[in-house]
Amino acid sequence: MTSSTQSDPIIKIDQVSKTYPGDVQAVKNVSLEVHQGEFFALLGPSGCGKTTLLRMLAGFEIPNEGTIMIDGEDMTDVQPNARCVNMVFQSYAVFPHMTVAENVGYGLKVDRVKKKEIQERVAEALELVRLGDLGARMPDELSGGQRQRVALARALVKRPKVLLLDEPLSALDAKLREAMQMELVRLQKTVGITFIIVTHDQSEALSMANRIAVMEGGTVRQIATPEELYEDPNSRFVADFIGQINLFDGTAVASQTEEKVCATVEPFGTMEIWGETLGPVSLAIRPEKINIDIEKPTTSEHPMAQGTVTDIAYYGGYSNVFVDVAGTRIMAEVSNDTRIRSSTFERGTKVWISFNAEDALALGD
Ligand SMILES: Nc1ncnc2c1ncn2[C@@H]1O[C@H](COP(=O)(O)OP(=O)(O)O)[C@@H](O)[C@H]1O
Ligand SMILES: [Mg+2]
Repeated sequence: MTSSTQSDPIIKIDQVSKTYPGDVQAVKNVSLEVHQGEFFALLGPSGCGKTTLLRMLAGFEIPNEGTIMIDGEDMTDVQPNARCVNMVFQSYAVFPHMTVAENVGYGLKVDRVKKKEIQERVAEALELVRLGDLGARMPDELSGGQRQRVALARALVKRPKVLLLDEPLSALDAKLREAMQMELVRLQKTVGITFIIVTHDQSEALSMANRIAVMEGGTVRQIATPEELYEDPNSRFVADFIGQINLFDGTAVASQTEEKVCATVEPFGTMEIWGETLGPVSLAIRPEKINIDIEKPTTSEHPMAQGTVTDIAYYGGYSNVFVDVAGTRIMAEVSNDTRIRSSTFERGTKVWISFNAEDALALGD
């Protein structure tokens, strides 16, 4: 991949910091690049600076330090309305006294675009968000999901190079949100515009984005594809924030194998696992990579320990089985893939926990 000549980034954020009055350091020395056509997510817990970063891209906030380049141009002195970006806000306010079509065309009217062109572009934008037939409706005759589409159409009609979306689906109920996630992915592919979405919902980011920046306390902790974040988190924070994971405290020393360490972790003993951090570490392993058996596994050399089932959480397609091993709580995900299961775990069942050391990581903070 090193020899590929990647196009210049459409967004280049270089060592950007933002401090609000009252000495609130919302964004600290963030650098990242987004490429043309990407569906990029800013993901992190509430208050970590996602909205602030997005607002700086839109020009509604000015960085205290660092530079932002959009499409090769330094944005320092460029007003929001002169930027080739458009933002869909968390509260997707639409004008209540205008029809859907008037709402969508409003920005073009302000820009003095000719009436005929407005009509054409509005029709095209409504078609894109599948509201082709609803142009004459009033906003209060729309569902929440449809109003969200109006807000999207209103942003798309301006033909921005980058669409910024701040938690655009947070007001929708779970089912609709999932449908709109697919819809946004489809839309992004259709229009080919770069999307940058802000979300605190890791499953939303994983399912939609092709790359994700995980943020914490105003800083970027890791930038990677969904798969890399899940399988190869660079820290305890990212591992814990993305999906579910078991973290066992232990100690690591250097090993003979490159990119591996020799970790000692109770109750499993000493083993070679992937990692670079030495000293105090967490052994991280995903619950679906933990095996759980009634009989002691005979064939493998995998780390193993015996314990007792304490809780079972049933989720339909799978269950999370919690096992206590000498005071350590371990979560194993068991797939419910046959309708009538041959073996069932119950509270109090004595079981064996094992895993392949290849599936474990040694992580620092
Ligand atoms: N206008 C503002 N004035 C002062 N502090 C702010 C302002 N906007 C945001 N903050 C603070 O900056 C931090 C980051 O906020 P924000 O970017 O909204 O985070 P997020 O979108 O990740 O929830 C928070 O501590 C928040 O309270
Ligand atoms: Mg926010």
